[in-house]
Amino acid sequence: MTSNAPVVILLGPPGAGKGTQADALVERWCLVHVSTGDILRAAVAEGTPLGLEAKRHMDAGELVPDEVVIGIARERLARDDVQTGGVLLDGFPRTIAQAEALAQALGELGMRPPVVVNLEVDDDVVVRRLSTRRMCRGCGAIFNLQTDGLDVGDRCPKCGGEVYQRDDDKAEAIRERLRVYYAQTAPLIGFYEERGLLLSVAAAGSVEEVSGRTIEAVAQGLGG
Ligand code: AP5
Repeated sequence: MTSNAPVVILLGPPGAGKGTQADALVERWCLVHVSTGDILRAAVAEGTPLGLEAKRHMDAGELVPDEVVIGIARERLARDDVQTGGVLLDGFPRTIAQAEALAQALGELGMRPPVVVNLEVDDDVVVRRLSTRRMCRGCGAIFNLQTDGLDVGDRCPKCGGEVYQRDDDKAEAIRERLRVYYAQTAPLIGFYEERGLLLSVAAAGSVEEVSGRTIEAVAQGLGG
């Protein structure tokens, strides 16, 4: 079986805006949005065995073990919607082992090599964005205290769900996530650069400015 459906990866440090930019890309190319963070948070909310294991790592700002996340991603990629419409990967891969497993899975599924967009942003911007991020418990929408004015306990303007702050958006966990990012995820920039798959986008500036640059990069990567 082969599929010509696009595969797009959003790389970047925590808080770079991967989840925020995913919306624009998914809409533009009708991609299936696969966020390993969202899948893991759903498992935590449901209290499944996977969720219980993941929560420990996530709250501490650590990565969930490769074998767990690779299993989740492989299963999701093999589904018909991805094969037909293509996929936007947000938060996966995050280690070299995950990138290698992804390349193998795409090969086995007969899918195209990915277009990889790296959202580049300074650490001080990351810390500011994450410490002021708020999310909806109902629909998973992403907000920001500074730009959207929503705070913990407010109702989500999209679905009426409860607005909350992620446990891993507390100062200590943010510091650890940045440390883990540089140690384990940043090497993926070189990995994809060597394979001629990497496109870099400056991710400072407004959401709309970054969306414009990100869409342009993906269009270039997909060949127009
Ligand atoms: P995950 O949910 O993937 O977290 P992350 O990669 O750390 O990314 P974030 O969700 O924190 O940030 P983002 O880049 O999506 O930014 P956002 O758009 O929200 O993973 C969570 C945890 O799950 C991990 O720590 C790990 O434990 C585990 N996990 C997940 N995947 C894994 C994997 N593959 N392997 C192992 N473990 C895994 O934006 C942030 C804020 O900034 C928001 O408030 C937003 O409104 C605001 N904002 C965004 N863009 C702008 C802009 N241009 N201007 C102003 N504000 C902006």
